[in-house]
Amino acid sequence: MKKDVIIACDFPDRESTLAFLDRFQGSRKPFVKIGMELFYGAGPDIVREIKARGHRIFLDLKLHDIPNTVRKAMKVLSALDVDMVNVHAAGTVAMMKAALEGLTRADGTRPLLIAVTQLTSTSEETMQKELLVGASINDTIVRYAQNAREAGLDGVVCSPLEAAMVKEACGETFLAVTPGIRFADAAADDQVRITTPARAREIGSDYIVVGRPITAAEDPVAAYEHCMKEFAE
Ligand code: C5P
Repeated sequence: MKKDVIIACDFPDRESTLAFLDRFQGSRKPFVKIGMELFYGAGPDIVREIKARGHRIFLDLKLHDIPNTVRKAMKVLSALDVDMVNVHAAGTVAMMKAALEGLTRADGTRPLLIAVTQLTSTSEETMQKELLVGASINDTIVRYAQNAREAGLDGVVCSPLEAAMVKEACGETFLAVTPGIRFADAAADDQVRITTPARAREIGSDYIVVGRPITAAEDPVAAYEHCMKEFAE
């Protein structure tokens, strides 16, 4: 499995996203993540446009609904020819299986499908008090990852610090896609459980999702190349 850096394109509109991607003309085409804000604002055409420019796309919409609805929605996303999509593992094994069915094209190909275990914005205390999940956050993450694996998914989104735990529970080939990456000399912003690209590689991440350290850098192409060098090469 080749490791790769995914740039989180957290821009509000088509123009600023494409202006950002224009900077990569002449360099290699990064794998990019498109989230809810851009997708809901700019619509599916933004996916087609970025795909036509030769980028691979992780469409981060975190689906969570009844199995039938998720199956049908995934069919639509699969036709957009994205490379990776995700669901909430909290939607249950049945929902994740339905997502996988919806994603699989007539020729048997499909985008990678990964599950969000517990959002990194949810503390153990909130999970226990508000969601009434009695287990520890680590046990919850491992169980949700095992559920995702049972449903046939390819991996989970987790903090890089959780990647080793997930691999131990679900096997080496089960993907760990990890945000929360910062360069050693940079500000953490609002991220709490962070690590560097080099450390994420050591712990076992397969893909790192990097936003502001690249998008807000003075030279985003240089910052991306720095990440690729530390993590993927
Ligand atoms: O700018 P930064 O590198 O913090 O961006 C990280 C990206 O990963 C953002 O798009 C954020 O929404 C996403 N993400 C995250 N933590 C999660 C899931 C997704 O930071 N648990």
